Amino acid sequence: MAKMWAGRTAGNTDKIADDFNSSIHFDKRMYRQDIKGSMAHAAMLGAQGIIATEEAETLIAGLEGILTDLDSGKLAFDLSCEDIHMFVEQELTARLGDVGKKLHTARSRNDQVALDIRMYLRDEAAEIGEMLKDLTLTLCRQAEAEKATILPGYTHLQRAQPITFGHHLMAYAMMLLRDMDRLEDCVKRMNRSPIGCCALAGTTYPTDRRFEAKQLGFDGICHNSLDGVSDRDFCLEMMSDLSILMMHLSRFSEELILWSSWEFKFVELSDAYTTGSSIMPQKKNPDMAELIRGKTGRVYGDLMALLTTLKGLPLAYNKDMQEDKESIFDAVDTVKMCLSVMIPMIDTMSVCRDNMKKAAQKGFINATDLADYLTKKGMPFRSAYKISGEIVAACLRAGIVLEDMPLADYRTYSDLFEEDIYNEISLETCVAKRISEGGTSVASVEAQIQYVKEALGQ
Ligand code: ARG
Repeated sequence: MAKMWAGRTAGNTDKIADDFNSSIHFDKRMYRQDIKGSMAHAAMLGAQGIIATEEAETLIAGLEGILTDLDSGKLAFDLSCEDIHMFVEQELTARLGDVGKKLHTARSRNDQVALDIRMYLRDEAAEIGEMLKDLTLTLCRQAEAEKATILPGYTHLQRAQPITFGHHLMAYAMMLLRDMDRLEDCVKRMNRSPIGCCALAGTTYPTDRRFEAKQLGFDGICHNSLDGVSDRDFCLEMMSDLSILMMHLSRFSEELILWSSWEFKFVELSDAYTTGSSIMPQKKNPDMAELIRGKTGRVYGDLMALLTTLKGLPLAYNKDMQEDKESIFDAVDTVKMCLSVMIPMIDTMSVCRDNMKKAAQKGFINATDLADYLTKKGMPFRSAYKISGEIVAACLRAGIVLEDMPLADYRTYSDLFEEDIYNEISLETCVAKRISEGGTSVASVEAQIQYVKEALGQ
């Protein structure tokens, strides 16, 4: 079939060139946005007297019919069309005859595609936001159940100070809260309508860009037509946000993997989200968490791909920009897939409280509290720190922990030591006393859960 743009040339491109040039196999997913955009465009053309009102009504009804038939599966995509825009227009003309050919007045595929992507992504951002909310509330629920569960907190992956598991989980909830915020912020800039920028220079027709923008739920228009058709910074911004989000999911996954190992055994992931080995019967592998960690690289790659594609392009539209879609679609799909596994995996994760406690009991993670004990009794912190270090070294030589050292031995280091030292360095006290805002105590964790829930309107 002759190309819709055949005119200057006969439009007889080679089959290989057609396949290479075509984007319908991946941009067909934007058919809803494309049709809705066209309906608003037809309405504007009618309202402005650029086409007759009846023609506009015919176009809108025709487009509505195509939308219904695509939704129901009655109409299949014609993959020989170059892209989704060409397909809809071709189908419309096949259904309506010549009036269908009026739809493309005062627009170009350049502003049309920019419009479709913006509409598509703002919906996807909202969906991802909902999933993030789900995951965050799941974390809050687990944190509430584990607000008094003690485990070692680490720095340098060395046992540092005792913390509560609820505190640890809420750290991720805070990250996700910012991820949601970032996505919402990105949509603010994305939600400007490029339709009416036309090919690059605007148009001689008396269009009303604001009418179309309003109809399609945009907060305003792109104020420069060259910019409106040629930038994809909103895709880059969203992929940056998704990359940061994936980095968070990946760190969490790494911890889940570590915690699932025999060496830690802090958590047990449900059988529904783990796999076995084909030859080692004892294995229960955290494949889902590993894949989330792995797919993070893929989302970073999508961002880098589009950054690189755009960096040398002169204004305005260039065909290179067709490459935007596979990157951003892949990033969106990957994030949604990861979240859809992460949410139930965290929801069903069981916590091995005894193992966490046991791990916290070794490793002198109450040494800071030993030093604080002396400081609170009047010794300068640096001196208290030095003495505590010496006591730890002595315990290590004797093969005991701080809780086992007799009071008489403590008193050889300082007269300030009294019977209450044992209570002061118990793990429960260490945790309970960290009541500073944002700290690890039960009360602080409860306040954090409250804060997050309120931020989510719960
Ligand atoms: N399929 C194209 C894309 O995704 C649509 C815009 C085509 N514009 C053009 N002037 N060839 O970028």
